Amino acid sequence: MSKVIGYTQGTFDMFHIGHLNLIKNAKRHCDYLVVGVNDDVLVESYKKKRPIVPVKERAEIIRAIKYVDEVVITSTLDKKEIWNQVRFDEIYIGDDWKGNARWEKTGEDMKELGVRLVFLPYTKDTSSTMLREKLKDF
Ligand code: CTP
Repeated sequence: MSKVIGYTQGTFDMFHIGHLNLIKNAKRHCDYLVVGVNDDVLVESYKKKRPIVPVKERAEIIRAIKYVDEVVITSTLDKKEIWNQVRFDEIYIGDDWKGNARWEKTGEDMKELGVRLVFLPYTKDTSSTMLREKLKDF
């Protein structure tokens, strides 16, 4: 049996327990986990705010996690483009994105490539946005 290559991608700003749970769960599904870390320009283009922690530092933190086998810094949300480089068998995303039009389309695109889209449980009550908001009160 050949090894299953898994892929997940995110911003991972102000690394928190939701990120860790997602990555830990992803590694349960595959033999080799590649994590894409969105660069600062990409994040600003779709979240309309710059990450607090610069991409090089976010990537270094993700690289140090024992469940992660490889990190790629990404400048696109187009998973077909990334698949051309990484050739993953499965792709993971938190189930907060279930029903989202972009991810529905990604699921279809991935199917055509023989890649399985797996939604993993979202961790409630934490996010980079929530942390940002909390910091305003200090
Ligand atoms: N994620 C999760 N549980 C959380 C927060 C994020 O499972 N509480 C997952 C997302 O679904 C995604 C990955 O972690 O698969 C990276 O998400 P990212 O957007 O980097 O983190 P958020 O904390 O959601 O950032 P933001 O608040 O800016 O949207």
